[in-house]
Amino acid sequence: MKERILLTGKNGQLGRELQRSLAPLGELVAVDVEDFDLAEIDTVRSFVRTLRPRIIVNAAAYTAVDDAETEPALAMAINALAPGVFGEEAASIGAWVVHYSTDYVFDGTAERPYSETDTPNPLNVYAKSKRAGELALQASGAQHVILRTGWVLSSHAQNFAKTILRLAVEQTQLNVVVDQFGAPTSAQLVADMSAHLIRQEQTEGSEDFPFGLYHLVAAGETNWYEYARYIIAAARAEKVPLLLEPDDIQAVKSKDYLSPAVRPSNSRLSTDKFCSTFGLPLPHWQSEVDRVLQQIFMIQRGQA
Ligand SMILES: NC(=O)c1ccc[n+]([C@@H]2O[C@H](COP(=O)([O-])OP(=O)(O)OC[C@H]3O[C@@H](n4cnc5c(N)ncnc54)[C@H](OP(=O)(O)O)[C@@H]3O)[C@@H](O)[C@H]2O)c1
Repeated sequence: MKERILLTGKNGQLGRELQRSLAPLGELVAVDVEDFDLAEIDTVRSFVRTLRPRIIVNAAAYTAVDDAETEPALAMAINALAPGVFGEEAASIGAWVVHYSTDYVFDGTAERPYSETDTPNPLNVYAKSKRAGELALQASGAQHVILRTGWVLSSHAQNFAKTILRLAVEQTQLNVVVDQFGAPTSAQLVADMSAHLIRQEQTEGSEDFPFGLYHLVAAGETNWYEYARYIIAAARAEKVPLLLEPDDIQAVKSKDYLSPAVRPSNSRLSTDKFCSTFGLPLPHWQSEVDRVLQQIFMIQRGQA
């Protein structure tokens, strides 16, 4: 019998890729805010109780990092309370939960990639709500996998790569932060790895499955400035009509680029635990960006 899988946030960057990657693994019930609102905890409970999935994949989240500074209660309800309720409901029906978190749970002061054993110290409201969600799920009693990722890009929805391409059509100068480090990671990679884990649990059984917390980002590292230059160079190589050249991008320090939410300067995550536990190598961020840019260019040319 096909296992029922509940996927939330189906229209988000990650959710859209998960719809594709999870489809072969069971009876997929994919929902978004129009089906039920994660901020309404009683609705979350009753939905899970009625549906009785065996796996809950929670890709829904409040992800507007700057807006969260002025909407802390809403961010907390969606990012912290809902994952805890998914966990409680999963525990009561013998289901398990795949949940996503962020590099932003760390304050970025370390001078090396963060591992899963490092102590989080979130700097902004969004990050605090995501950390609270991790803790709520861990305390719920449900079997779970939490995948911390960062700098997610895809050919759909809003993300840094698409913003840079849009601005490059309109502007001849651009300031981009040079002192925040991380690894651009495709939603497709996170979705494919999530499906791989679920498949492993389904085939080998839950008793020996290594549930827990993992970091999952592409290999290598860059900063937002170099990443922006890389995007523009790739677009120009594809003859995308742009006003901006890579050298028109100015490197600025975070302290000179004010935004409502403070971001960590070091968003690098060590993926040693993920790679060694699951025996999976992770691609370099440049091949991730190349692949997604090709998809974006095809959509722009009307070929996709
Ligand atoms: N994007 C990144 O760079 C990044 C980095 C680190 C971690 N993550 C984590 O990765 C996961 C997926 O992120 P993403 O980039 O796919 O985010 P996303 O594109 O913003 O998608 C989130 C989805 O959740 C839905 N949602 C928001 N509020 C909801 C509510 N109250 N009830 C039900 N659904 C709701 C959204 O619907 P609407 O669009 O209609 O609001 C959207 O479909 C999240 O846990 C996020 O924290 C993302």
